[in-house]
Amino acid sequence: MSVPILSARAIVKSFGGRRWFGGAAPKRAVDAVDLDVHEGETLAIVGESGSGKSTLARILLGLARPTAGTVEYQGQRVESFTSADWATFRKAVQPVFQDPASSLNPRMRVESTLSHVLRRHKLATRDTLDAEIGSLLASVGLDAAQFRDRYPHQLSGGQQQRIAIARAMAVRPRLIIADEPLSSLDMSVQAQILDLLVSLKATRNLGLVLISHDLNVVDAISDRVIVMYLGRIVEAGPTRQVLGNPSNDYTRSLLAAKLVADPHIARARRRAVDDARASGPISPSNLQGAPQ
Ligand SMILES: Nc1ncnc2c1ncn2[C@@H]1O[C@H](COP(=O)(O)OP(=O)(O)OP(=O)(O)O)[C@@H](O)[C@H]1O
Ligand SMILES: [Mg+2]
Repeated sequence: MSVPILSARAIVKSFGGRRWFGGAAPKRAVDAVDLDVHEGETLAIVGESGSGKSTLARILLGLARPTAGTVEYQGQRVESFTSADWATFRKAVQPVFQDPASSLNPRMRVESTLSHVLRRHKLATRDTLDAEIGSLLASVGLDAAQFRDRYPHQLSGGQQQRIAIARAMAVRPRLIIADEPLSSLDMSVQAQILDLLVSLKATRNLGLVLISHDLNVVDAISDRVIVMYLGRIVEAGPTRQVLGNPSNDYTRSLLAAKLVADPHIARARRRAVDDARASGPISPSNLQGAPQ
């Protein structure tokens, strides 16, 4: 396969602890994580609260330094980046966060938010700026005439997240790292933003790292899944395999905690339970994957 866009090797991130003798050991929020993200693929990261997903995302985005391990962008280690390399990286790998209100500047109108980014990266001239803003807004399903003069507080949560996505798309990224991008939105709006991410991804060959609690969303759009537990990757593989036929007890319990809407997965899990029944007495451990 081609060189990954982004790779992480043996990433560790520790917090706290005391260095001197007898002090508490630092806590590893991320522990020995390896991953690759390829062009145009969607990699989902799942795991319970506190399992290290956001900490890992911040390291992948270059917003936090790992305690140990390396991150490579197109085969080049970020520690060896020059400032020009960082500028390229910051364009190519864009974040989308959970709470769009706090990721937008409350004092900037939609138009200024987008023109600021376009100008800083020299992606529009005075002559093309208007048209570029219009097409960015159209690409996230917003009418420019209606929205360009609004401040964030004049937008709904879904509209704010659309602007945050437009801002990320403005620099024509290769990879978006989205940390729970749907969690702060109403259910009906979640579906719309998810559709938007899927269609942008399909039309621009965009890679996506999607952190989500929602296994139905993960199942709907990801190619591969990584399951994290206490900072470690406990299971990884193609989405159908990991969600349809999990090999790890923790993954099974994550799945069991969700009401599974997808008939494919529900069927696979019923089969797993039937197989477990056929192969011997039922114990709590082989029922962990059972539909609720
Ligand atoms: N700056 C920090 N200082 C100390 N501990 C931290 C810091 N950031 C994260 N942690 C700890 O690291 C662990 C992983 O946190 P992280 O936010 O990465 O989890 P998460 O998987 O994103 O959880 P959630 O699903 O709730 O967002 C947690 O135990 C958290 O308390
Ligand atoms: Mg988090």
